[in-house]
Amino acid sequence: MSEMRVVSGIQPTGDLHLGNLLGAILRWVRMQDEAECLFFLADLHALTADVDPSKLHSSIREMAAALIASGIDPAKSTFFRQSAVPAHSELSWILQGTARIGWLNRMTQFKEKSGKNREGASVGLFTYPVLQAADILLYQATHVPVGEDQKQHIELTRDIAIKFNTDFDVDLFVPPDPYIGGGTAARVMSLRDGRSKMSKTDPSDMSRINLTDSDEAIAQKIRKAKTDPEPLPDNAEALDGRPEAKNLVGIYAAVTGESVEQVLTRFSGQGFGDFKPALGDALIALIAPIRGRLDELRRDPAELDRLLGAGAASAADLGSPVLEKARAAVGLAA
Ligand code: TRP
Repeated sequence: MSEMRVVSGIQPTGDLHLGNLLGAILRWVRMQDEAECLFFLADLHALTADVDPSKLHSSIREMAAALIASGIDPAKSTFFRQSAVPAHSELSWILQGTARIGWLNRMTQFKEKSGKNREGASVGLFTYPVLQAADILLYQATHVPVGEDQKQHIELTRDIAIKFNTDFDVDLFVPPDPYIGGGTAARVMSLRDGRSKMSKTDPSDMSRINLTDSDEAIAQKIRKAKTDPEPLPDNAEALDGRPEAKNLVGIYAAVTGESVEQVLTRFSGQGFGDFKPALGDALIALIAPIRGRLDELRRDPAELDRLLGAGAASAADLGSPVLEKARAAVGLAA
């Protein structure tokens, strides 16, 4: 067993698109071969925003299937729903005694998400990072793969771990490091506007590629993607100021696993009339098998339940000694 233990979660937002796949999921998939990994659907975190129960229920299942279809392999990694392992909630409450209001007041994500309506935000949205700390500390994770926007939460997790260990004079929690690795984490932008992120809330479906899109839809979306009239340059710097061109080249590189330079060496001097069909083909080669596996899992909900149940059982086993020690440290042992 490797000495690196990776834990990461993703909120069940419903349908996955290419941005999620290249930005987060494929990094997780690659990491499975580098470290011991636990990955979960952060369905408890989803309760910090307004919830539509039936929508949440279907998003959780859909997202679990999509992650497995994309290559999260329950035979390699521990894959589960956060809410199926009650130790997350229990440890989160214990850690609420350690985290300070002043620390949480500095969290930029809370400020962004609550906006002008701070007084009307849920308490859960405010303490969201404490639950996240519990997710991580419960498994004594050494590394947490996250995007830039989550680094502050990992710093907070370190602070909570260190304060708890000090206050209760134990050597229990492992202060984790953010993990940036597992291949190129492309920032995928809208196909209609190279300056805004690809997003499931964009009203135009032409702006994104969904994991459920047919081969024809993928090819068409790439054909219609916004570009500029210039041919592709021979170096990456020359893509600055050409956001749409930069985005398409970046997607191609992330999909094929090449560097942007390698891609440009092959395509420099060619126009988008040549590049787009190649990009469409590469995307179809990536997504068609995922779509196929997703279809199969959708048709076999019992198998999905079985995989998630087994994942939750092993996560509970891994976490329970740490939870017991945390309970004992604060004086809750029987
Ligand atoms: N907050 C993370 C996000 O929005 C999701 C998350 C919840 C997470 N718990 C976690 C990520 C624990 C890493 C580790 O992306």
